[in-house]
Amino acid sequence: MNNRMLLKIKAIPENVGFLRNVIAAFAVPADPSVETINDVKTAVSEAVTNCIVHGYKNTVGEITVDVELIDTKLYIKINDTGVGIENVQQAMEDFFTTETAEERSGLGFTIMKTYMDTLKVESKLGAGTTVYLTKELIHAEC
Ligand SMILES: Nc1ncnc2c1ncn2[C@@H]1O[C@H](COP(=O)(O)OP(=O)(O)O)[C@@H](O)[C@H]1O
Ligand SMILES: [Mg+2]
Repeated sequence: MNNRMLLKIKAIPENVGFLRNVIAAFAVPADPSVETINDVKTAVSEAVTNCIVHGYKNTVGEITVDVELIDTKLYIKINDTGVGIENVQQAMEDFFTTETAEERSGLGFTIMKTYMDTLKVESKLGAGTTVYLTKELIHAEC
């Protein structure tokens, strides 16, 4: 099964759940296990939340999601055109957060890395951030 979806949506908290469900639904034709789908949902939530909370802090922008399914492999690209990240390597460290005042754990990227097969982050200060996630969709046991 090969499929592709491109989606542009308002960066508001209400759309975190929507996007995780939409991407999960997109992956269903590959017949993934519940555990695999939950891993994808968890990672997508973290990436989308980051766009809203960090990328568009105090503003409302747009999130672009590009998802591709090639056979049993899922490729997810999540982009914002917000503030960008000054030091990507540092941002990806466990427990690193720039939001100490709030209840952020600094584990968003760690979670994405743990639950997906690959994670790549591209960012430019003042221009935005793109997160690339891939996952081999493991079949449900029959
Ligand atoms: N889309 C984004 N735009 C701007 N900065 C981001 C984005 N995603 C992550 N960051 C930066 O990377 C840091 C680490 O992100 P993360 O691991 O998700 O932890 P947390 O969200 O709890 O701070 C954030 O505190 C923020 O500074
Ligand atoms: Mg986060």
